[in-house]
Amino acid sequence: MTDDKLFSSLKIKNHLFKNRIGVAPMTRVSSPGDSIPRKDVLDFLVRRAKNDVALVYTEAIVTDYESAQGYPNQSRLLTQRQIDAWRPVVKAIQDAGSVAVMQMFHCGRMAWPEINPAGRVIAPSPVTTKQDNPLTGKPYTVPDEMSRFDIDHVVRGFAETAKGAVEAGFDGIEIHGAHGYLINAFLSGYSNKRNDAYGGSDENRFRFAEDVIRAVKPVVPKDRLLIFRISNWGVADASVSLFESKQQWQQMIRFLDAHPLDAISVSTMNYADKAFGTDKNMAQLTREVTEKPIFICGGIYDRNTADDAVKDADMVLSGKSLLLNPDWVADIRANKPLEQRTGKEADVAYTETPLP
Ligand SMILES: Cc1cc2nc3c(=O)[nH]c(=O)nc-3n(C[C@H](O)[C@H](O)[C@H](O)COP(=O)(O)O)c2cc1C
Repeated sequence: MTDDKLFSSLKIKNHLFKNRIGVAPMTRVSSPGDSIPRKDVLDFLVRRAKNDVALVYTEAIVTDYESAQGYPNQSRLLTQRQIDAWRPVVKAIQDAGSVAVMQMFHCGRMAWPEINPAGRVIAPSPVTTKQDNPLTGKPYTVPDEMSRFDIDHVVRGFAETAKGAVEAGFDGIEIHGAHGYLINAFLSGYSNKRNDAYGGSDENRFRFAEDVIRAVKPVVPKDRLLIFRISNWGVADASVSLFESKQQWQQMIRFLDAHPLDAISVSTMNYADKAFGTDKNMAQLTREVTEKPIFICGGIYDRNTADDAVKDADMVLSGKSLLLNPDWVADIRANKPLEQRTGKEADVAYTETPLP
């Protein structure tokens, strides 16, 4: 029998996680007009909390009204109405004994000019992704290289959105630095070709993330959590290693480690995959250079994979399994045989069909 680390509690600062299972951030494109998610989408999050998930993430919330949005009908947390809509949801998650974390992002070169009032796409450098936009089947627009003005402006959007989350009562804020979106695009030499202070060396490529952390930290009260999500893969660069080597990955983790973050969330395609030609997985390589709590995600779908993944991390996150199965935590607890869910099945997330 496996040990039960998975169902043991975890304390990070003053926040108690009742077990090691969280629902990963999942975009739902359900917020037309006022950038407030549909009621069934909000209810879905509360139901996951009631069904024993220790940590509930919001979908990725876009950080401004100009250039951040990459999918139709995304959510924001910048106005009083948006804050008022989230507040009871956060409270219901907390009342169910779970920790509520808001994830925020700017889509960078994966934004659409058509749905952003600024009518432009901005990124560290004018290079597009390898794959086409999965929603249109067409190439993404070549982005404008961000000016210093753009950088400062976008950083403020992260701070303003964090303020909204604090006001709505969230226990934590996550800076989305993964999946090829703006922050990740700065971190990776594959998409960052700049030769100013924001490109070139590892330190320079980290600078934009650092600016965001420095701007966000002061608006997050001491008792709330600040988390950073990072990955070596991008949504439209699925086969590209965004970091060149284990050394480069670990250098970025060291930079994160040196900042006032409460956890590092590592997103993978499959948690068990050996990374960068080593015999270690991403969580293990991350653990080598940080003592901070690590959240791991990717391909965790049953008791075996959850137990195995949590060995090298502090929390496991599930996307597709928890999206489609409201009883996933109970099923895991009962060691029920479970199938790995597919991306195609998960596409229901982007429809108007309410999820159980
Ligand atoms: C419908 C859907 C929406 C997603 N939206 C986000 C998102 O908003 N932010 C994010 O960081 N990851 C997002 N992801 C990725 C998941 O958080 C997770 O990393 C991924 O699904 C792999 O985990 P899994 O194998 O348990 O599904 C999304 C995944 C799915 C299936």
